Amino acid sequence: MDEMQSQTSEPLEEPLLTVHDVVRSFQVGSVQLDVLKGIHMQVMRKQLVMLKGRSGSGKTTLLNMLGGLDVPTKGEIRFNGLSFHTMSDDERTAVRRRDIGFIFQTYALLPLLSAWENVELSLRLAKTPKHLWKERVGHCLELVGLGKRMHHRPFELSGGEQQRVAIAKAIAHQPTLILADEPTAELDSQMGAQVMAVFREIIRTEDVAICMTTHDPTILEVADYVYEMVDGRFDRSSNHTNQAS
Ligand SMILES: Nc1ncnc2c1ncn2[C@@H]1O[C@H](COP(=O)(O)OP(=O)(O)OP(=O)(O)O)[C@@H](O)[C@H]1O
Ligand SMILES: [Mg+2]
Repeated sequence: MDEMQSQTSEPLEEPLLTVHDVVRSFQVGSVQLDVLKGIHMQVMRKQLVMLKGRSGSGKTTLLNMLGGLDVPTKGEIRFNGLSFHTMSDDERTAVRRRDIGFIFQTYALLPLLSAWENVELSLRLAKTPKHLWKERVGHCLELVGLGKRMHHRPFELSGGEQQRVAIAKAIAHQPTLILADEPTAELDSQMGAQVMAVFREIIRTEDVAICMTTHDPTILEVADYVYEMVDGRFDRSSNHTNQAS
């Protein structure tokens, strides 16, 4: 309650991420496929935003552009004061390594590395000074509830545990934005709920916002805000803020 009151009394906050009229078309042979047809959205700091929409509606396509992996055919993406749509590939890659973390449906862990080493890898990529690694890796694995599984390799972990290692890996370098593409799709409902509890906890304790896709109605209830993709646009009548959060 206190938090809500202080939020409303502060001056209007700048969004962390702003998407303005984004169009993405693909040329497939002689056919032009218009997947995104004018997307508008915002993600505020420390917000949990979800994208829903039927298979093939363009959720992954959009998420890739939010992370600077792909660029819009037309339109603007602003992240943390930077304009992705005017930056070079190399410039976007540098921003992504420093400020963004990715989580995928199938965890994307390196199978021969332990949980600890997988998390360490993202600090190496982000060029975090080596003397800080030990404390940060330990902290992140504790945060996702894997303090007792730090030296297991992926095949020695359950699906939910592997996804929690992937979360630790995604947050290790202290990004301000996490992008997660159907992070709970491979998990049963109990493990999915655990992953969502971890997401809530990292938003509470780290300065990070999360934007994720999901098909699962019970997962959608945990969001601060839900955007629904319909025919290449967000359906205004379906976008909503959840009361519970
Ligand atoms: N590189 C590409 N070239 C051509 N078409 C593409 C490309 N990437 C995506 N598409 C098309 O764009 C559409 C949207 O794909 P996307 O993967 O974004 O959907 P999605 O909403 O993530 O679906 P799902 O829920 O199944 O993951 C699909 O019809 C897909 O075939
Ligand atoms: Mg997808």
